[in-house]
Amino acid sequence: MQLFIDTADVAQIKEALSWGIVDGVTTNPTHVMKTGRRPLEVYREILALTDGPVSLETIALDAKEIVKEGRKLARLGKNVVVKVPVIREGLKAVKELSADGIKTNVTLNFSPLQALLAAKCGATYISPFVGRLDAVGHTGMDLVRQIRTIYDNYGYETQILTAAIRHPEHVLQAALAGSDVCTMFFDTLKLLYDHPLTDVGLDIFLKDWAKAVAEAK
Ligand code: E4P
Repeated sequence: MQLFIDTADVAQIKEALSWGIVDGVTTNPTHVMKTGRRPLEVYREILALTDGPVSLETIALDAKEIVKEGRKLARLGKNVVVKVPVIREGLKAVKELSADGIKTNVTLNFSPLQALLAAKCGATYISPFVGRLDAVGHTGMDLVRQIRTIYDNYGYETQILTAAIRHPEHVLQAALAGSDVCTMFFDTLKLLYDHPLTDVGLDIFLKDWAKAVAEAK
């Protein structure tokens, strides 16, 4: 399973890439707003850091405009993935962008039928927002499981990019459900390494090693 970092914070992306476990980046307008910087400047810096897929979101709501914006974003780098909302005009645009060979990430996905339509339009990725579904009393991961079944039933190649991840358990459940990718915040990525027994065990080994060296004749 691929792991993406979900942010537009260049320092965090740089640090996470150095760990060797991050395969790509997803951004959105909220992430860009939080940087307080010009979007194009941020996008260029991110693209200079990695050859992995980098999702950049379109803002237009009309298919023609989305295609125009998507083509412009795609020109920023070979690894750009154009992120498009799962609305009627958005999917029209995805069909056109896909026909041009431009990779797309269909975002704001909250239903399995939306995911089916995205696959029919040739989307490269579908992004189910599991944490936002959990927050309104649904089980977000059910959506991932349903999409997996639908895509497998019909052989769709669209990759499931589980998003709006809130904690490592989401990542585990997504992996068990057969999600192709998970995108998450820097802090969640860090948590994937942690287990208290690892810390306790390491502490014992280090102390015992120090004793072994001190006591050796
Ligand atoms: C995914 O690509 C989105 O950027 C992200 O996961 C949005 O989720 P959130 O704003 O609910 O965290």
